[in-house]
Amino acid sequence: TEYDNILVERRGRVGIITLNRPKALNALNEALMREVVQAARAFDIDTDIGAIVLTGSERAFAAGADITEMSSKSYQDAYVGNMFAGWDGFTSVRTPTIAAVSGYALGGGCELAMMCDFILASDTAKFGQPEINLGVIPGMGGTQRLTRAIGKAKAMELILTGRIMSAEEAEHAGLVARIVPAAELLDDAITTASLIAGKSLPVLYAAKESVNVAFESTLAEGLRFERRAIQATFGLHDQAEGMAAFMQKREPVFSHS
Ligand code: HXC
Repeated sequence: TEYDNILVERRGRVGIITLNRPKALNALNEALMREVVQAARAFDIDTDIGAIVLTGSERAFAAGADITEMSSKSYQDAYVGNMFAGWDGFTSVRTPTIAAVSGYALGGGCELAMMCDFILASDTAKFGQPEINLGVIPGMGGTQRLTRAIGKAKAMELILTGRIMSAEEAEHAGLVARIVPAAELLDDAITTASLIAGKSLPVLYAAKESVNVAFESTLAEGLRFERRAIQATFGLHDQAEGMAAFMQKREPVFSHS
């Protein structure tokens, strides 16, 4: 498939989607959104892909939703067109997703990174929700996902002031899993994704789905979900293989079934 706003490649079982609108610091316009969702879904239905890396350029993961495209929208346009709802196609991907963030991850860029299962950040990464300065609020999940990630006090301060935070502050706050030197970010993300992609795909689905339930339910509900999910893994060939391999002191060879 040919894309105008992204680059897509595969390395073994890892799918890589690179945001590629350098002249606008990867601002997220509707065409780019459609392409990211299309590429992510194509990787998702391909069982030869076990993890997806989403990245941008060294200067910017993404500097937000495309302000030029949004600026002339009326309320009717936003409501009837269901502005930003298309990103649900990205969050419904079952394959593990890693955001590899270098440079600006602002507004929708920060929100897109937070839609991924976790964020690896270069030491140059900058995170923020500056929508308040544009007379709007975060609209791709920022008020919800940032609050769940870093807590109310810090999320409120960032969203109400529009202040940008460093990679170090973001890691300390729990927004990012790990900081990597800028020059090593993509290699590290691909290595991490390869490690994940070598696990059993259906077990990865179960693990991801179970962690996500923690954000959508009570503890009791989440524990019940997890218990059913682990019980179901005992129906998989890969559970038999994983445990047999351990007892035979060898590496497991998963069949993703
Ligand atoms: C459209 C953008 C853009 C954006 C940058 N550009 N961000 N275009 N939408 N979000 C364009 C610039 O207009 C410029 O184009 C080119 O990218 C390079 O940007 P510069 O500003 O010249 O670079 P620099 O001086 O290095 O500043 C970088 C920056 C700044 C600090 C990241 O670009 C910036 O503040 N951008 C906007 C950040 C933001 O507010 N994001 C949130 C958007 S709202 P030209 O053609 O002039 O070279 C959002 C959610 C909205 O994401 C939800 C509610 C509706």
